[in-house]
Amino acid sequence: MNIILMGLPGAGKGTQADSIVEKYDIPHISTGDMFRAAISEGTELGLKAKSYMDQGALVPDEVTIGIVRERLSKPDCEKGFLLDGFPRTVPQAEALDELLAAMNRKVEHVINIQVDPDELVKRLTGRRICKVCGTSYHLQFNPPKNEGVCDKDGSELYQREDDNPETVKNRLDVNMTQTAPLLDFYETKSVLSNINGQQDIQNVFKDLDVILQGNAQ
Ligand code: AP5
Ligand code: MG
Repeated sequence: MNIILMGLPGAGKGTQADSIVEKYDIPHISTGDMFRAAISEGTELGLKAKSYMDQGALVPDEVTIGIVRERLSKPDCEKGFLLDGFPRTVPQAEALDELLAAMNRKVEHVINIQVDPDELVKRLTGRRICKVCGTSYHLQFNPPKNEGVCDKDGSELYQREDDNPETVKNRLDVNMTQTAPLLDFYETKSVLSNINGQQDIQNVFKDLDVILQGNAQ
């Protein structure tokens, strides 16, 4: 299963990815998570990515394509993969096609989670994330059982640096401009499905799973 999850910042890509990888046992490849890990490890990649992420801008294509190329070559991707937040530009999508063609593979499902921008601002500014396992919570929509603490491993929750109102606005603007041509790109290849992301988390997963099982109407 070679899957791409698309959607504006806050649409629920990471939240749904957790359920998909659990059910289908494929690796979750989030370029945002990879950049954040590099930043906290203080690597050269992290230094490059940080200035872009802090402004809510996209990290340059050549950097992003490079890390995905390396990740997809790992043995755990042989059974399939779930890409979250990549590709985000047409050049990234073209590079991914080339990469997969060289491995005799192709993208099977591109699922675009649709949510109104006003709702996204609320989701992002109220998000809290586990420092250890990365699970996303929301102060109002998906609160942890105990305030400030992860349900899964009891670790502390934190707020992402780019989840402040100013950077959120930039992220939404940048992604809205970049995503539209990408949707056309995958529509033409007949692999795109749009789902309503403005339902509760379990119902979004139900819709998504119908598509993954190949039963989409
Ligand atoms: P990235 O980490 O990918 O961030 P993003 O696209 O902005 O998306 P988010 O992770 O913020 O949202 P999400 O869709 O995962 O939502 P979540 O499930 O957490 O990228 C960060 C940065 O890295 C970019 O800005 C860029 O600089 C760089 N970057 C990454 N990839 C790149 C690329 N390919 N090219 C160039 N640069 C790149 O949910 C959000 C909140 O909503 C949570 O609180 C959650 O609990 C809640 N929620 C989820 N679902 C629901 C629901 N159904 N109802 C109510 N609340 C919900
Ligand atoms: Mg995410």
